[in-house]
Amino acid sequence: MKKGFIFDLDGVIVDTAKYHYLAWKKLANELGFEFTKEQNELFKGVSRKRCLEILLEIGNRTATQQEFDTWMVEKNVDYLKFIENMDASEILPDVPKILEYLKENNIPIALGSASKNAKPILEKVGLLPYFDAIVDGNNVTKAKPDPEVFLLAAKHLGVNADDCIVFEDAVAGVEAANAAKMISIGIGEKNILKEADYIFNDFTEISISFIQELIEK
Ligand code: BG6
Ligand code: MG
Repeated sequence: MKKGFIFDLDGVIVDTAKYHYLAWKKLANELGFEFTKEQNELFKGVSRKRCLEILLEIGNRTATQQEFDTWMVEKNVDYLKFIENMDASEILPDVPKILEYLKENNIPIALGSASKNAKPILEKVGLLPYFDAIVDGNNVTKAKPDPEVFLLAAKHLGVNADDCIVFEDAVAGVEAANAAKMISIGIGEKNILKEADYIFNDFTEISISFIQELIEK
């Protein structure tokens, strides 16, 4: 059967978690509390709205609807400033090698991201042409761990869900891939991503023969 490969963006293709962190930290500091890198782990793969809800829980703050909306916008304006000058140097190691191999072998590739900023980021780093479909925070109603984002990506690729392979760095993303009955490949720490079918620290540990095996499975 024809296989499809689906990539998460933040933390898989580019290391944007540090910019999300800086923008959330700035907002937290303005609201009068600290936000640590460890707490930022909870934000991986999580929608912008849910991140703000968690941030307010961390700071023990409540917000009116108007404040909530204003802070969502403020965080994104700051995030956009941080990513303004992103370029190909911020692509994580060996990601282009894998994308290139899939392209050469006519394997369909999709993006499956929670971010509403996914497309401009792919454009900035020059990877947009590799993607046959892009499903992001603008196209889904249910956030990861719901499988919606990956199921929609499979549909756009014209590939059965159980013939798809998903690369994810977030626990919520691995859960979403598993719920979609796809093969989940965790990119990150083994003790965090234990639900994934396969786990690698990064793409430098993934060989072309492993990708070939996944294609032929
Ligand atoms: C995910 C990130 O990819 O996108 C989350 O891992 C982020 O940290 C989410 O909150 C939403 O991103 P954005 O760009 O729409 O605010
Ligand atoms: Mg991610």
